[in-house]
Amino acid sequence: MDKKQPEVSILLCGHVDSGKTTITHLLTGKWTDTHSEELKRGITIRLGYADADIYKDNKTLTTNKTKTLVRKISLVDAPGHETLMATMLSGSAIVDGAILVIAANETCPQPQTKEHLMALEIMGLKNIILVQNKIDLVDEAQAVKNYKEIQAFIKGTIAEKSPIIPLSAQHQANVEYLLEAIEKNIKTPKRDLKKDPILLIARSFDINKPNTEIEKLKGGVIGGSLKQGKLKIGDKLEIKPGRKIEKQGKVSYEPIKTEIVSIQTGSEQVKELIPGGNAAILTTLDPSFVKADSLTGNIAGLENKLPETYEKFKLKVHLLERSVGTKEEIKVEPIKKLEPLMINVNAATTVGVVTEVHKDVADIILKIPVSCDKKEKLTISRRYGTRWHLIGLAEIV
Ligand code: GTP
Ligand code: MG
Repeated sequence: MDKKQPEVSILLCGHVDSGKTTITHLLTGKWTDTHSEELKRGITIRLGYADADIYKDNKTLTTNKTKTLVRKISLVDAPGHETLMATMLSGSAIVDGAILVIAANETCPQPQTKEHLMALEIMGLKNIILVQNKIDLVDEAQAVKNYKEIQAFIKGTIAEKSPIIPLSAQHQANVEYLLEAIEKNIKTPKRDLKKDPILLIARSFDINKPNTEIEKLKGGVIGGSLKQGKLKIGDKLEIKPGRKIEKQGKVSYEPIKTEIVSIQTGSEQVKELIPGGNAAILTTLDPSFVKADSLTGNIAGLENKLPETYEKFKLKVHLLERSVGTKEEIKVEPIKKLEPLMINVNAATTVGVVTEVHKDVADIILKIPVSCDKKEKLTISRRYGTRWHLIGLAEIV
């Protein structure tokens, strides 16, 4: 394994204000809430990315640099606010494991504690650690009571055997136990480097300062995680579904062709990218193509080697009994004709309308097409008031 690159990526998820961004900072030294709206509202809105280096100091694990580097990891910091479920779902598609954060000074579970664990379960993310954060805010009796609530909550779920680590992110207490749990429970998965590469694009941006001279302009950057295969500098890339084109009132999407100029991962420039952490790839694309995350949800790979683009599909839907994202859990009614549904697949979020439904099979026309493997797992969310909540999973038939 190339020690320069992060080997594994881990999602921070859990109810709003439980301390995900503070834990990300604790482990990486980086604050991922940077957008003005996030600072103003004090909540995470977009996925945050930061890498941590785990070292060994005698027998203790630490993020302070020593001679013995154990592993580089990538963290993806998700928002906990109930209106931002789509973002959490995209995050869960690009990681290998998750840390579910629970605030010790609130009763457990809170609505998004449940909804996020449900999402991890649906996505099949088995490598989960529970963090009982903010233990500095409670006395011992409250801490024990909350710990028992967490134990009862995970019973019978995918996280049943997961460790629960009491922590104070603010007072930096118990960090070494969290690092130990990460090393033990979120191992680097075996990667398939021989498959055709698929990069799940979770962000895209223009790195040029305003008023840069044209000759000095750098190309667009796409960021995300490589699901399989390898990518290297000079590779000719295709991005799908690609660019929206409107001709005589008709909308279509056209794949974009580009080339890899450089690759950055784990704050290092590398020649070749293998799956693991999150990478930023500089391309020859016109920077205006990539502005403000315009390519989020697309996939990138070698020319003519990418899976299909769907504008509509037939889905076999498996509904949950209850939608758990609100305080009063709602019984999930069957899918109805003409209802809008939010669909997440890979890092893509799209909305579709049900045109036909027979038992658990629904025909859906998408507002924005998605490119994905036919075998990919999709999550389905329904709108309750102004919010989308997870109601089940689906597969393309
Ligand atoms: P969202 O991303 O909006 O869902 O929130 P979050 O889970 O990222 O929470 P964040 O890290 O922003 O922390 C929310 C508040 O809790 C902030 O004021 C933190 O300073 C505080 N906080 C986080 N961890 C601790 C802790 O261990 N102890 C105490 N006392 N406060 C904490
Ligand atoms: Mg946050």
